[in-house]
Amino acid sequence: MTEPITLSVIKADVGGYVGHSAMHEKLLEEAGLHLENAKTRETLVDYYVTACGDDLELIMTHHRGVDNTEIHQLAWEVFEACTAVAKKLKLYGAGQDLLVDAFSGNVRGMGPGVAEMEFTEREAEPIIIYMADKTSAGAWNLPLYKMFADPFNTAGLIIAPTMHDGFRFEVHDVKGHKRIFFDTPAEAYDLLVFIGASGRYLIKAVYSKDGDIAAVSSTERLALIAGKYVGKDDPVCIVRSQGKFPAVGEVLEPFTMPHIVEGWMRGSHYGPLMPVPVRHATPSRFDGPPRVISLGFQLADGRLVGPRDMFDDPGFDRAREQCGELADRLRRHGPFEPHRLPMEEMEYTTLPQVMAKLGDRWQPLP
Ligand code: F6R
Ligand code: MG
Ligand code: MG
Repeated sequence: MTEPITLSVIKADVGGYVGHSAMHEKLLEEAGLHLENAKTRETLVDYYVTACGDDLELIMTHHRGVDNTEIHQLAWEVFEACTAVAKKLKLYGAGQDLLVDAFSGNVRGMGPGVAEMEFTEREAEPIIIYMADKTSAGAWNLPLYKMFADPFNTAGLIIAPTMHDGFRFEVHDVKGHKRIFFDTPAEAYDLLVFIGASGRYLIKAVYSKDGDIAAVSSTERLALIAGKYVGKDDPVCIVRSQGKFPAVGEVLEPFTMPHIVEGWMRGSHYGPLMPVPVRHATPSRFDGPPRVISLGFQLADGRLVGPRDMFDDPGFDRAREQCGELADRLRRHGPFEPHRLPMEEMEYTTLPQVMAKLGDRWQPLP
């Protein structure tokens, strides 16, 4: 039997160019050098480095399983080395997502975002990796639901015998530190009660009914870890495709409807999530609108054959146009809700200072 492979996607913002809009080439080069060494040492089977906005994305395959100390340490060292490069170039927010000074076994809870899955490679193993910038971890709830539970998105749920039983969703309550599993279609309404509140309840993973991993997302919420605003989560998500999982086109289809996510300017606004090719993952207008990129790979004994830049397709032009229209409409609201997040959700606010300043000018209503 073939040895299981682990696919780890670990990301962090360790410095932006210019401002928070994109990634400097030198950081990609530095990360590539470190991961190439790790491949030579046989710590990694393969790797691919890319960026979405100001986030450095390390895509790695190996045989060490999920939550492996050596792999997490490797990622941490890459982020530290890239921070040093960012500091030399005086890039913006150098090291911003490294929330602690020293690595202690696992990057979870230390700032970076992590999505990892271990599985036995099928005869052919198509994988789609989503990476987003200027938004929060809840951004995957709606598209994952559509991919794996909505027959209006995924025809296979109705007409493919391999998928007709539906899927199992693992949902994390990131404020209550609890998790729960839901079977769809039977428990779809119960599932939706929670995942509609995507600031708190996050789809961590999806499984086939026979227990095979189908999708996994990063659920790290930076503000909850740091206790204050330190930048948006800018999450990642891995989806296995074809056969008993949704087809590539069914996995991509949810992004033709630009859904509204939290993030954008100062992490404090709602805006449409724009599906773009990697070369356009450079949020500039009002620091946005939030972006999502999608890289497709075929795995071959852990080798990453690819990537194909899946949103580099005219089929997504209309979604991008709609994002522009939605962005215009929302922007015209300026500082008013529902463009600006509700007060209690805002991660960036002058409210305490303004309240303190005006404290004794508030009078009881007559
Ligand atoms: C949002 C984001 C940017 C910054 C904004 C202010 O996730 O990264 O919109 O919040 O550019 O940045 P600072 O506070 O670093 O000047
Ligand atoms: Mg940044
Ligand atoms: Mg970012």
